Amino acid sequence: MIFEQIATGGCQSYLVGCEATCAAVLIDPEFSQIDHYRGLLAQHGLTLKYVIDTHTHADHFSASRELGKALGAPVVMHRLAPAPYADFRLDDGDMLIVGNLRLKALHTPGHTRDSMSLVMDDRVFTGDALLIGGTGRTDLPTGDPHELYDSLFDGLLRLPPETRVYPAHDYKGRSHSTIGTEITDNPRLQKTERAAFVAMMQALDLAAPTHLTEALRTNMSGGKTVAQLLSEAAAKVPFMSLGELNERLGGNRRDLVILDIREKEAFDAGHVPGAVHLPRGQLELRVNSELPDPTVRILTCCEFGKISTLAAATLRELGYGRAAALDGGMKAWREAEFPLES
Ligand SMILES: [Fe+2]
Repeated sequence: MIFEQIATGGCQSYLVGCEATCAAVLIDPEFSQIDHYRGLLAQHGLTLKYVIDTHTHADHFSASRELGKALGAPVVMHRLAPAPYADFRLDDGDMLIVGNLRLKALHTPGHTRDSMSLVMDDRVFTGDALLIGGTGRTDLPTGDPHELYDSLFDGLLRLPPETRVYPAHDYKGRSHSTIGTEITDNPRLQKTERAAFVAMMQALDLAAPTHLTEALRTNMSGGKTVAQLLSEAAAKVPFMSLGELNERLGGNRRDLVILDIREKEAFDAGHVPGAVHLPRGQLELRVNSELPDPTVRILTCCEFGKISTLAAATLRELGYGRAAALDGGMKAWREAEFPLES
């Protein structure tokens, strides 16, 4: 078996491959690691058969949809997962066959209603139902401490004690544990009475995870994250550095239109000398009259260098084949003490 554990901060994902057939499965992929996963698949000569999300993640951006689409592998989730992009939905006890590997789904709700764990030979991928020295929280949408109690005490903890536990999160750099170790050492599992366990979970009072709303929005809908939108735009446009622009200011200005797309107040307070003002919100409305020549070289700039990337990508789509974006924004320009005009 080929086994790779890929950590992104505290998020853990797993690539499991069958050596004999070169078939592989990827569990809980994270969006920023897409190139990493593809590199590992290529490095091991594996073909991805399934991408699995153990549950609807509220704290990171799932790469399942993107990878599934790019590599032609179905996205697998539990039957109750709200994600419309899940191609293949499992029930408790269903088994996936990946080459010579067999992964059996256990429905382990509680952290979320759609949580499942995957048992494979000597190990179990527990998602956020069971963590090393902890459990998933039950206070996020569709969480339920009663269900988590059942999933743990009537489910996961009945697996053979030597079963290795690979969770979807670990913030302390540990790779895995075992069911036996968790039964004896996991503080939350010492509350073996249902009422005491539920009371403990309800009293945790945890801070909301970062990106909660964006992660739920994108993971439940298959929509894009803002970062994804930006990186897709960035892949379609060239950039110009602040220093390069500064050097070009003295030259023949007619061959470069510096397009400042911020709001009027920001533009009036200080802009690159000679910049033309066209706010992002009016770009498509005024582009025909303001930029009649599609062959002109355009450099978009904004406050932080993000929205200007979107604007440059839009301009390229509209046919301005020489549109580029400033690498950095007016904030960085001011901090570098480059010249301003107001
Ligand atoms: Fe989670």
